[in-house]
Amino acid sequence: MKDIGKVSRREFIATTAAVGACMCGLNGCNILLPQTGDALQIHSSAYEISESNKKVEIIIDTGKAPDLMNVGSAVKIIDSRINDRIIIANTGESDFTALSLSCTHNGAEVEYKHDRKIFKCVSYNRAEFSLDGRSIDSMNLKTLKTYPIRRQNEKLIIFFEV
Ligand code: FES
Repeated sequence: MKDIGKVSRREFIATTAAVGACMCGLNGCNILLPQTGDALQIHSSAYEISESNKKVEIIIDTGKAPDLMNVGSAVKIIDSRINDRIIIANTGESDFTALSLSCTHNGAEVEYKHDRKIFKCVSYNRAEFSLDGRSIDSMNLKTLKTYPIRRQNEKLIIFFEV
């Protein structure tokens, strides 16, 4: 009779092999891997999107996104009107960085780590990127796309080319 809670050596090896297969980084193999980071998603009422001459601007009303005004914090924007998901980090007194939220390895979200001033993927391989989006670990991934961002009074403006 088998004890409940005990796992045989054979079962352990079979289970860890299966988990390992899911952590292999194959496209679409995301069953056990975290995909969502800790940045809060700001509500669409906190920003507007303006489009003209192949340029898109996201204009954030900082009064409606107070989380972003704390140094070390980060928020994300996921909006079908924009062709990328973005993360915006408050990296210093009046310094902000905006880049793609999607890790270039397999698309999981990145989080901002203010203690090291880096972005780190939440998925198994935990890829790391510098503030300018460069891969800074042994994975040597493609650079995260960055977007110019400027503060203008109570607004933060992020610039896209389309
Ligand atoms: S999705 Fe694999 S390290 Fe980011």
